[in-house]
Amino acid sequence: MLDNLDSSYETIEYDILIVGAGGAGMRAAIEASDKGTKVLLLCKSLLGKAHTVMAEGGIAASLGNIDPQDNWKIHFSDTIVEGQSISNWKMAEIFAKEAPDRVLELERYGALFDRTGDGLIMQRPFGAHSYRRLCYVGDRTGLELIRTLEDQVLNRNIPYIDEAVVTGIIKDPTSGAVSGAVVIRIRSGALLFVKCKAVILATGGCGKVYSVTSNSWESTGDGIAIAYRAGAELMDMEMMQFHPTGMIYPAGVRGMLITEAVRGEGGILTNIDGERFMARYDPKRMELSARDVVARAIYTEIKEGRGTPNGAVYLDITQKGEAYIKKKLPSMYYQFLEFANVDISKEKMEVAPTVHYHMGGVRVDPETAVTNVPGLYAAGEVASGLHGANRLGGNSLSDILVFGRRAGAAAADYVKIAADLVATPEDIGKEISRILSPFKATNGENPFDLKDKIAQTMWRYVGIVRNEEDLKKGLEEIQKIRLDSKNVQARGPRGYNQSWADSLSVWNMVLDCEALIMSAITRKESRGAHTRSDYPKKDDAWLVNIVVKLKEGQMVLDKIPVPQMPDELKALLNREEILLWKGKDKSGK
Ligand code: FUM
Repeated sequence: MLDNLDSSYETIEYDILIVGAGGAGMRAAIEASDKGTKVLLLCKSLLGKAHTVMAEGGIAASLGNIDPQDNWKIHFSDTIVEGQSISNWKMAEIFAKEAPDRVLELERYGALFDRTGDGLIMQRPFGAHSYRRLCYVGDRTGLELIRTLEDQVLNRNIPYIDEAVVTGIIKDPTSGAVSGAVVIRIRSGALLFVKCKAVILATGGCGKVYSVTSNSWESTGDGIAIAYRAGAELMDMEMMQFHPTGMIYPAGVRGMLITEAVRGEGGILTNIDGERFMARYDPKRMELSARDVVARAIYTEIKEGRGTPNGAVYLDITQKGEAYIKKKLPSMYYQFLEFANVDISKEKMEVAPTVHYHMGGVRVDPETAVTNVPGLYAAGEVASGLHGANRLGGNSLSDILVFGRRAGAAAADYVKIAADLVATPEDIGKEISRILSPFKATNGENPFDLKDKIAQTMWRYVGIVRNEEDLKKGLEEIQKIRLDSKNVQARGPRGYNQSWADSLSVWNMVLDCEALIMSAITRKESRGAHTRSDYPKKDDAWLVNIVVKLKEGQMVLDKIPVPQMPDELKALLNREEILLWKGKDKSGK
């Protein structure tokens, strides 16, 4: 067994290290491997168990299989408009154009989508998509995507290490480019230095900084913190998406996702008075309004006393009958039956908003997914730019395929021409000493308590509706936790040591939270997922992205204007025209 303070490490060498084996990481690995580079894939959990599976209801791509009028231009327009005009237009253009190819490629890889009568990939409606655009596999689309990509990774013999976490990037002292990364093997607690010329972060989001979330245990925002410490810029950190429908009880599953596909398949939201309340918030789109709108509506109903005694509203899909529900929404059916003892074919569900997706993250180049640090790339939820102030459901699955592939390709091109890079033993030693320090603490703070405090603080002060006073109080609390976390203590041996893992997570989480709250304090308006009761209106003066970076040891924030869109793309944002199309039959009959 390793001595807890043993700082020895093994060194291995690859061209590219990919951190995270969800959809973005695996798609990047496939591309970089196909381009002939030596790739290592790291997985915090076990291979095949990724948070990607929590995008259940479908993958958005304008195939036009059900609504032939659909095309990339309308998907682009929906993405920009519902992102409340702060998305990076170039990313949105690339995304909307390439999403159909990525879905068809996934099908070629072996994904078994639900089918139309003609044998085409079936598509369903989802909130604020102008057409039925979500290609799906019942309510297990993310799972099928992961299963398919895993197959491709294994068929190519791409090396991977599961149960491993990256703690920090090492850079070449002369050029400042990435030259490697320090890794902990969770099972043994052994340390590893991966020498490489490029790192692709595909670590997902930071939903676990909130107490009520659909996110799984891995989502502690490691990638954001690692990138920031390495000198990368963050952007749109204030933009955290609350999914309108999470489970309420039993307590152990509070926040668990109830897929938007329930509403896509005709699910109806009502309050305690039986009123279909979405008529008051978005009479045209009703339950299929944008996520920020539906989440705020549910929040308001509950806050104003029209919620259920459990603090929820009702979601009703009983009209579809058991056979249909079991076919289209099998996971939901069994999730409610097994966890809550509710048969959703006969009874209403109780639902309330849950933290689901972070639109903010690492700032990247729209075409290559490279950050401002040479050799450092980010794709998927860890990156920012595509979704602006509000992501459309289903856009994350196509995002991870489009930009995972692009990151893999760009990193592969880069490592082929990058000069030899140095990683000094001093820099590696410094990172190792940082990560072993929780074993040196005596009478230190309990990391489980700190993690819990972070999650409670964020839920209480940085929720769906925010105001200056709460945000400042939240920031104060998080800063106190940051000070306490300096003396966090890991107990027990190194292998499978949860208190050590949580000690390191707490450092990442407080950093993410500070960036998030400081950005939220800065944005003095309401836009998309960022609702301020003290600045309730959207204000064109805030057509900016808030960028966070590390400068001389301090976290500093900048406001940068949203990049100007070319006129021909601006012309696509004509919502009047799109609303007319929306007026057409969307029932599928
Ligand atoms: O509701 C859902 O199935 C989630 C999809 C997504 O977040 O893209």
